[in-house]
Amino acid sequence: MLAAGTVPQVEGAVGRYNRLGRLIGSFSFFVLFVLCATQLFSIAATIVKAIYTTDLQTLLLNFPLSKSAYPTSLTRDILPKPIHSHNDYWRHVPVYTAISYGCISIEADVWEYSGELFIGHDVASLTRNRTFKSLYVEPLREMLDSQNPDTEFTHPREGHGEEPDEPVGGRNGIWDVDPGQTTHLFVDFKTPGHNTLPVVIAHLEALRTPVNYLTHFNGTHVVRGQVTVHLTGDAPFDSIIANSSYRDYFYDAPLRDLSSGRYTPDNTITASGQFGRDVGSVIWGRGMTKEQRRIVRGQIEEAHGRGIMVRYWDTPGWPISVRNAVWGVLVQEGVDLLNADDLKAASYLDW
Ligand SMILES: *[C@@H]1O[C@H](CO)[C@@H](O)[C@H](O)[C@H]1NC(C)=O
Ligand SMILES: *[C@@H]1O[C@H](CO)[C@@H](O)[C@H](O)[C@H]1NC(C)=O
Ligand SMILES: *[C@@H]1O[C@H](CO)[C@@H](O)[C@H](O)[C@H]1NC(C)=O
Repeated sequence: MLAAGTVPQVEGAVGRYNRLGRLIGSFSFFVLFVLCATQLFSIAATIVKAIYTTDLQTLLLNFPLSKSAYPTSLTRDILPKPIHSHNDYWRHVPVYTAISYGCISIEADVWEYSGELFIGHDVASLTRNRTFKSLYVEPLREMLDSQNPDTEFTHPREGHGEEPDEPVGGRNGIWDVDPGQTTHLFVDFKTPGHNTLPVVIAHLEALRTPVNYLTHFNGTHVVRGQVTVHLTGDAPFDSIIANSSYRDYFYDAPLRDLSSGRYTPDNTITASGQFGRDVGSVIWGRGMTKEQRRIVRGQIEEAHGRGIMVRYWDTPGWPISVRNAVWGVLVQEGVDLLNADDLKAASYLDW
């Protein structure tokens, strides 16, 4: 009984070992097979590549990118478009998102608290880290610095220079395809103007020194820079124009008050109209009326006659058909900056 009982047990153990051995054997074989197959495949691929790749292709494949890259290529292939990024701080990344869609105009809402400018739509949205400097001034300055590298080609050698600190060919703006295009920065004052203005002026410093990128009025002329600052919202006109010899910020005038004659290209580059108030509401399914079109045409003509650009804000955002119809009329009538919350829609619309 005892012997009879042990034999099958031993046999059972041997059987298990055998099965395990077979399993390991076939697994090793499988691994070996895969290794050989990949080796063979890569040898075959090399042979095929050697036969079918021309010398030029080999050269291109192996060419170090750093050798062919341009020092300035941040915005290559992005077409600048006359679009204003309204409430820009809501974009995924302020400034950069707008630039990636080609918006030449950006708006920052600033709240002044004890000498700091916070960015946000309302008080509840403010945080310590989201400041005018960190979200707008510094990113713009960094982009402009990278578009204006200091190389032996951009800075003339001794004796070949034009102006001592003016690079050959002038300074580049943000846009690779149109380096002469300025970028508009609208600063919307959400706190009382007289306290906010000096802080805004001070916080623009990084765009002023060591390199002056700002469009400015020098007492006689407006000199175009790579960034043009427009003050809007609670911005106080009289204080803005107080310095009559040098200003590097401009007033965003109310479009319907241009006939007052206070706003001239020395102090005002843009004027903005509140669409709902100045033009009226647009009825779903009907589009803009003849009368509304006439108002828009009149306001744009008046502004352009004074050398001032036009933007309308508070344009209908929904229904989409109404939004697009209004955008279409504004563009046809010659609006200079199209106010947009949906940058993707505005930049991809088939105008
Ligand atoms: C704010 O910035 C500081 C310093 O850069 C950082 O340590 C902190 O985590 C940031 N806070 C928030 C809420 O992002
Ligand atoms: C102002 O700019 C104009 C045009 O660039 C220039 O001719 C003029 O000399 C400048 N005036 C001053 C005071 O810098
Ligand atoms: C005007 O601004 C310039 C540049 O910031 C400054 O040098 C000058 O003193 C100011 N003039 C007046 C009258 O405030």
